[in-house]
Amino acid sequence: MKIGEVHDANRKIIGRTMLHFDAVESTNETAKELLESDVEEGLVVWADRQAAGRGRHGRAWASPLGGLYASFILRTKEAHAWLLGLLIGMPVVKALRHFGVFAGLKYPNDAVYQDRKIAGILSEGVYRHDVYHVIVGIGVNTNVDLDKLPADVQPKATTLKREVNLFVANEEFLDYLLNQVDDLYSRYRNTRIEFLLKDYRGQCTTIGKRVSGKEKLTGKAYDIATNGALVIIDDQGAKHDFFEGSLEILK
Ligand code: BTN
Repeated sequence: MKIGEVHDANRKIIGRTMLHFDAVESTNETAKELLESDVEEGLVVWADRQAAGRGRHGRAWASPLGGLYASFILRTKEAHAWLLGLLIGMPVVKALRHFGVFAGLKYPNDAVYQDRKIAGILSEGVYRHDVYHVIVGIGVNTNVDLDKLPADVQPKATTLKREVNLFVANEEFLDYLLNQVDDLYSRYRNTRIEFLLKDYRGQCTTIGKRVSGKEKLTGKAYDIATNGALVIIDDQGAKHDFFEGSLEILK
């Protein structure tokens, strides 16, 4: 059920209008449904919990009360959907740091603290009435006790509540996060994407590490290609572009 609607005229595109729900299946799905009506770019769907939160690779995203679940609608070139999903990892990490968790950015867009995931992003491209939209969904383990997450997730996850002694209301976190995403998106619209990718490369803590991409691909994460791929140099010295699949950071 919708429980509120917030307007912020100071934002340029993202988060000028935000719809707040108590519970939805998935904020990405609600955002997609809203595309059937004539919604503005940057509209945010925020929910206190999700009954069927989704992660990347078809995984579930546990969404208990206390966590932050939000999606927003962008209209971009189809060719930029993947890159935007990467770039939005930067404001997420920035917001976590602002509130006291010195998170890193694991390729492609996971926020991690001491090798434990604290936030994730699911970006999905959809056509509606011949117009391409990107739905970017962000999940942050804010005010969640670790034992509220599934048992198999707990060893690899952490939460803001666990790492920081200060209580941070989701509303406050989201407000800061949306300001950062809005700034990034206006840079995206006004500068060359290569500049933003350079920033991303500088912030991506996977670069320089030994990684295992998928079966048999083990090597050093070396660079971010202009198409957003992670460039891995394998032990034989061959370069590979890695996009999707689970990426493991080796010790
Ligand atoms: C990941 O696998 O790391 C991505 C997780 C994305 C979760 C968020 S929560 C808000 C939005 N709605 C969803 O169903 N998923 C995303």
